[in-house]
Amino acid sequence: MAGIDEIHAQAVRWIKEAGQRITQSFETILDIETKSSMNDLVTNMDKDVEHFFIERIAERFPDHIVLGEEGAGHDLEELKGVVWIIDPIDGTMNFVHQQRNFAISIGIVENGVGKIGLIYDVVHDELYHCIRGEGAFQNEKRIEPMKEAKLEESIVGLNAIWLTENKKIDKDVTAQLVREVRGTRSYGSAALELIYVATGRLNAYISMRLAPWDFAGGTIIIEELGGKVTDLKGNPIHYLKKSSLIATSPKLHEAIMERYLS
Ligand code: IPD
Ligand code: CA
Ligand code: CA
Repeated sequence: MAGIDEIHAQAVRWIKEAGQRITQSFETILDIETKSSMNDLVTNMDKDVEHFFIERIAERFPDHIVLGEEGAGHDLEELKGVVWIIDPIDGTMNFVHQQRNFAISIGIVENGVGKIGLIYDVVHDELYHCIRGEGAFQNEKRIEPMKEAKLEESIVGLNAIWLTENKKIDKDVTAQLVREVRGTRSYGSAALELIYVATGRLNAYISMRLAPWDFAGGTIIIEELGGKVTDLKGNPIHYLKKSSLIATSPKLHEAIMERYLS
């Protein structure tokens, strides 16, 4: 099996190349379709980028498996071997409407354990990446370990939808959280919001419903920097299952869980 450094180097090369394909598409007219609802968008570029990775991975690492959001990869029942969990464009709505605030997200997991995380903020040419146990980087610059923040001084990433009537959480609980923290932000890309937690731009990110391709890359990077990622019951997240998610520093995790989620 290929070594971890080789897999990481190859992933870095491909994610940059995929980013170029996306920026070049800014000049073209996108083919936009809807998926589960009118607000769930997919474009020809989401599919193109997913295919791009699948083809290259199959050629270079034929024993690796791909789990991609757009479904062109493998159908998986368990996490055996090396699995690339790929969101070709996280923040498709932003990509379509704003041509910014989106990212490519990749988590590479070996036998269920996160080994390599990459999130590429294409428009800013900022690649966040790590190999488990070797520190995390923004381009070539090492990212400092995550710092703790007090609840009342923290900025929390949260989608406003969770302040409306919904089946996942009592909206009064989220409203109370919004009132008690210093501020909330909603960027429309889970991958970017996770990387903002990793780099201290946000102190926590909370979502009631995410898929493995939304959180795999970001979780691996956050954990590398000493952060904690669980579902809203405090259970470890699983790289094959959709779940709720809270990503933050360990003490703030405890504080939020105790005050709002227990
Ligand atoms: C979405 C974004 C969004 C999150 C949604 C995801 P997509 O991913 O990450 O911020 O709230 O749950 O589905 O569809 O743009 O890849
Ligand atoms: Ca996504
Ligand atoms: Ca996507």
